[in-house]
Amino acid sequence: MNEKYVIPEHVAIILDGNGRWAKKRGLPRSMGHKEGCKTVEQTVEDAARLGIRYLTVYGFSTENWKRDEGEVSALMTLFRFYMRRLLVIAKDNNVRVRMIGDRTKFSEDIIRGLDRLEEETAGNTGLTFVIAVNYGARDEMRRAVTKIAKKVEKGEIRADDVTEELIASELDTAFMPDPDLLIRTGSEMRLSNYLLWQCAYTEFYVTDVLWPDFNRAELEKAIESFNRRERRFGGVPAAGNAAEEKSSE
Ligand code: IPE
Ligand code: IPE
Ligand code: MG
Repeated sequence: MNEKYVIPEHVAIILDGNGRWAKKRGLPRSMGHKEGCKTVEQTVEDAARLGIRYLTVYGFSTENWKRDEGEVSALMTLFRFYMRRLLVIAKDNNVRVRMIGDRTKFSEDIIRGLDRLEEETAGNTGLTFVIAVNYGARDEMRRAVTKIAKKVEKGEIRADDVTEELIASELDTAFMPDPDLLIRTGSEMRLSNYLLWQCAYTEFYVTDVLWPDFNRAELEKAIESFNRRERRFGGVPAAGNAAEEKSSE
């Protein structure tokens, strides 16, 4: 990747298409998830090398519990394995791992593994790799509203003190900036309950590539596309600004 490109500070990914990848090969869906985990591992290394500061990957949504028992349990088995692998990858690449979502719904050993991953990598200063598991943006917002309502109930704050900053500070993502770029693999043009609050001004990039086939070249393509965007945050285009400045001279 050419150094003329601006590297987005925070890249969020909706990894999708594991099941379709497996189906195309006549394999069970779980094989797609297994390949998908390898892609996550590779993407963490690529993101760290490219100088991305935050990488947030959607691993399991609050709605994914609807899948059949066999698929959910295959995903849990993969989590168990990759939690241990990630510890090694994080150490080798100076990566800090954080988790967003409601971890309390997982079994004890997975909760312990996630806690351990966070604790043992807390001092790493490179990429922050954020895994969204049992994550749903509406559930995250509901939990945040409950916390704020409790503060009001106790008289710690007044209802009128609720600002956007206060809401953001009660979300799971309070420790990081909003995503600059959101990548979704597997063609679908939807958010599927991912980072609804945080993606207010995020640039979207959707690719037909299925997640197990995603690689560094595809990540670079997304970053190149990001570099062609003009972010306005509700303002006027930069060219419009220049024209206005001229006419008021
Ligand atoms: C994404 O791949 C992984 C998870 C949601 C855990 P899918 O399993 O949704 O794959 P498709 O969309 O069915 O191909
Ligand atoms: C989004 O993918 C969730 C994750 C990647 C974990 P889904 O496959 O669950 O999304 P939908 O059902 O196509 O919207
Ligand atoms: Mg899917």
